[in-house]
Amino acid sequence: MALDLDTIERLLREQGARQYGREAVSQLDHALQCAHRAEQAGEGDVLVVACLLHDLGHLIAAERAAERPAGVAADADDLHQYTVMPFLRGLLPEAVLEPIRLHVEAKRYLCHAEPGYFASLSPVSVHSLAQQGGVFSAAEAAGFLKHAYAAEAVRLRRYDDHAKVPGRATPDLAHYLPLVERLRQQALANV
Ligand SMILES: [Fe+2]
Ligand SMILES: [Fe+2]
Repeated sequence: MALDLDTIERLLREQGARQYGREAVSQLDHALQCAHRAEQAGEGDVLVVACLLHDLGHLIAAERAAERPAGVAADADDLHQYTVMPFLRGLLPEAVLEPIRLHVEAKRYLCHAEPGYFASLSPVSVHSLAQQGGVFSAAEAAGFLKHAYAAEAVRLRRYDDHAKVPGRATPDLAHYLPLVERLRQQALANV
């Protein structure tokens, strides 16, 4: 069920050209800005690729929107951080998958842990926070920190939050796809 690289590229280039929810940049721009932020911060390929693919679940959901059952609102939480997992598992290592799986929880965590973080969120992100379960309690925050990749998820989240700038220049997708392929090869070698 894992996606191949051509499908990932097609999803990013075709579905990704669509608007990023109601944010001002497209999904493709958002993915590229997020990966670029990570790269500029000196992150390794693993987190750069996680940043590139963190919202791929939105694109898969968009492609399937025509099949959405009647009665499911278009802006209901699509649980994209979880629905993408079967499509990436087997393709990429756990170190890529886990920060992606945890990136929504990281937002809920940061709202609890960091004064001023909530106020820094975009209006769209505040709206989705409510749909995603809201700010973590102290107990939920402590539980989040027990995840092996909690720190990476928090870093991904910060790049994510700063990846919604209209017109910001980034490398093209062609710059990042070889990183995905390299990690795929590594994942295969480790099976
Ligand atoms: Fe997301
Ligand atoms: Fe995002």
